[in-house]
Amino acid sequence: MTRLDSLEKIKKEFDKALANCRDAETLESIKIKYLGRKSELTGVLRSISDLSALEKKEIGKYANVLKTQFAEKIKNIKENSDVFSSPGEARQIDVTMPALEGRIGTIHPITRVTRRINEIFVSLGFGIAEGPEIESEFYNFEALNIPLDHPSRDAFDTFYVDGEYLLRSHTSNVQIHIMQKALPPFQVIMPGRVYRPDAVDATHSFMFHQVEGLMVDKDIKFSDLKGVLSCFCKRMFGEETKTRMRPHFFPFTEPSAEVDISCIICKGKGCRVCSGNGWLEILGAGMVNPKVFEAVGYSPKKYTGFAFGMGVERIAMLLYGIEDIRLFYENDVRFLKQFV
Ligand code: PHE
Repeated sequence: MTRLDSLEKIKKEFDKALANCRDAETLESIKIKYLGRKSELTGVLRSISDLSALEKKEIGKYANVLKTQFAEKIKNIKENSDVFSSPGEARQIDVTMPALEGRIGTIHPITRVTRRINEIFVSLGFGIAEGPEIESEFYNFEALNIPLDHPSRDAFDTFYVDGEYLLRSHTSNVQIHIMQKALPPFQVIMPGRVYRPDAVDATHSFMFHQVEGLMVDKDIKFSDLKGVLSCFCKRMFGEETKTRMRPHFFPFTEPSAEVDISCIICKGKGCRVCSGNGWLEILGAGMVNPKVFEAVGYSPKKYTGFAFGMGVERIAMLLYGIEDIRLFYENDVRFLKQFV
């Protein structure tokens, strides 16, 4: 028998063995028999040294073709048949196994906190309104008693869209839209995005969220503002939360105040979060400046009101103990899925 004949014979035997193979163990032994170190095929390849150059080339080539064919056929069977997974271990399907859980998204912490703020004010009788993020200077500044040359305009450093329009630097613009459309009495909160060209760091972002508040009627007093805000703070941060107001300046309110709550971490004793003084600043507020009423055509003699504005990120960071504002905007599911 020539070497070519014996290769043909090996091929026939291999195909027959494979056709009769019914389990993984047999498949493994076929692999060893036909492709292993002691296989006939390897033997043929080893013994070609005593052949002529031409024969060597022919036989060598054919033996190698067979080798790859055998390996491929075995691999094919392994991959395409359940029974041939790994030797001795047939794959099984456990129909009683619980299904894989689908991945359900979570509410973003900023949305969550905004909704909570909304809920509290709605329960106090406030409505909810929204206004434009691209705004004219009139609504963002002028009508709010911040004229062009007013020094406070620096404090609201602004992104300009073109000469006339800008990205609102606070939600106070919505106060003006509301007052132009409605007559008192009303009380409304105005959540939304605001923009300031601040350098981004752990506590600053070029975009963040605020919730604005406005209540106008014939006899609204500073004590009403105090009552509403202290009630809000208790509901938001816990019944034991104390509120204090410090005199401040805003062009659109007079008098104005910054509102602090007793530190929710140390309960006022002094800790790292409140820089040791026991209080956390959370919002700005005041009585609507008569000049603002004039800008929207209300009579300041007839109406009084209060307004306030708070930063949602700041509140969310305090509530959840988040130390870097950038985490809110990175869309990292490992961060986001913690808020359920
Ligand atoms: N608009 C102010 C700010 O962005 C907050 C504020 C709103 C203060 C309403 C007083 C009244 O800082």
